[in-house]
Formats: sequence, C-alpha cells, structure tokens
Amino acid sequence: MSRIVYVNGEYMPEEDATVSIFDRGFLMADGVYEVTSVLGGKLIDFDGHAARLARSLAELDMAQPIAHEALLAAHRDLVAKNGIDNGLVYLQVTRGNPGDRDFAFPDPQTTPGTLVMFTQSKPDLIDNPTAATGIKVISIPDQRWARRDIKTVQLLYPSMGKMAAKAAGAGDAWLVEDGHVTEGTSNNAYIVKNGTIITRELSSDILHGITRAAVLRFAAEAQVAVEERPFSIDEAQAADEAFVTSATTFVLPVIEIDGARVGTGTPGPVARRLRAIYIEESLKAAI
Ligand code: PDD
Repeated sequence: MSRIVYVNGEYMPEEDATVSIFDRGFLMADGVYEVTSVLGGKLIDFDGHAARLARSLAELDMAQPIAHEALLAAHRDLVAKNGIDNGLVYLQVTRGNPGDRDFAFPDPQTTPGTLVMFTQSKPDLIDNPTAATGIKVISIPDQRWARRDIKTVQLLYPSMGKMAAKAAGAGDAWLVEDGHVTEGTSNNAYIVKNGTIITRELSSDILHGITRAAVLRFAAEAQVAVEERPFSIDEAQAADEAFVTSATTFVLPVIEIDGARVGTGTPGPVARRLRAIYIEESLKAAI
C-alpha cells in the first residue's frame, strides 16, 4: 500500500510527491532533518526533536517552516493517515528551490524552504531482536565536518561507515577523533565501568541526542553514576558494558568492539535496565 506523505503543507500518495532538481537539499545537502519514533501510535519526545530542529535551523540561518503546533499536528496526521503503530516520522527541511544552482544562500523571502515528512512502519521497534543479542562495532576515523551538533542531511560519511561495518560483519562503526570516540554513525556511544556510565560530553563534536538526554536523566533518577567525558577504544574494550542510543534503536547493547569482546560478550545489566526504563517512561510520556 502506498504511503501518504507530506510536502509543503499537502498530504499526497508517495508516488505523487516531488521536489525540484534545483532544491538545495538535493544540490548542496543544504538541509536538516529529524527522526521521531512512534510507539503505540504516539510520538516519543516530540518536544525534544522540535527544539533540536529549531536549533539546527537557527545555526544555519534557515527559517522555521511552520509553527510548533502545526508541526505536531502534521506528525500526528501522518501517523494516523498511515496507521502507524510502531515506527517513525522522518522530517526534512531544506533551503528550498532558488530555480538555479548558486553557492550563495537565496533570499528566504523569495525562496521558501522545502518541508517534507514521511512515516516508516517498524513493528519490531520495542521487540527488536538485535537488542537481545547486542551488536558488534568497528572503529573508523571520524572524517565528518566539524559541526556535528547540527543535524544536517550530509550523511555520506556515516553511510560509508555503515558499509565498512557491514563489510566487517558488524552492526555499526564508532567514529574516532584524536584518540577518542565521538559517537556512532547514527547514535551516541557509551561504556559502563564499575557501574558508572561514561559518554562524551556535549559539544559541536557530536549530535546532541534526544535519546541521550532522556537516558542520562533516567540514569540519574535510578541512582546510576554518569561521567560525561571522552573515552578511547582501548578503554571501551576493557569496559564492563557498552551501548548506543538513538530514536530508532533506543538503548542498544554493544557486545564487541574491533573484534574484542566487551565484558561477557553479551548485553549487560545496565544497558538492559536502561532500555527497559527508557521504553516504559517513553510510553508513559508519549503524545
Ligand atoms: N540518528 N548521533 C548521530 C550522528 C545521529 O545521527 C543520531 C540520530 C544520534 C542520536 O540522536 P537521537 O537520540 O536524537 O536520535 C546521535 C537518527 C536516528 C538517524 O539518522 O536516523
């Protein structure tokens, strides 16, 4: 069945949805995005994603395409129109179609941004089989641009990282800069040592994960110590546990790093507990 998608204020079947070849998202990767998960037909952490979208837009001097309430209504409409129970809403805003190719930003008065949204159904979002087994990761150099705090659609290097991981029989790659892990290709990275969660502090080196913020809050509420600081691959391999977080994976255990088993080589108790708490609390707060 064809999906109903959203393009600039209109809902239409996906096969009717088009964007110009001059759109700066297409020509220049001049756009930002958000991924909001849906559980039981409700949005998880919508306000967090909307706030980060506003920040990404502001950092790039792009206009907010529609107001917060309209954005929420569009998310809910798409979920309802597509009968999404568990899944996600993908949203992308670009600097629009100036009618030609030019490096300079177009005047936003004459070139409005492009806003598209679509849903993806993911029935196994909670009962994700890889959450039970955990994933293996490899490490690769972090060769992305230096403003990773802005959620841009420039995802070529992360895609290359996923391909390198796949070729190595792993589920993802951790990105390493100056001897320390920044994050995963599409998630934030954590280790656990002697009961303390260690994860890199927020800066322009990493995306400020919405799931990260929630998980660190739940960890503090559960009296689990958290240290926000960089860690190396050596330290991670010697940790008791490792895991990643994102809107699409929640808390996902990591059991092997560059071929070395982490802890027992199975999902650890801290990651499993945090995953359960995250899902339970997210379901309660979903809107
Ligand atoms: N990725 N770091 C990077 C580089 C990411 O791309 C993501 C999210 C995260 C986690 O952020 P959050 O918890 O807000 O999802 C961290 C999304 C899911 C994606 O690109 O599909």
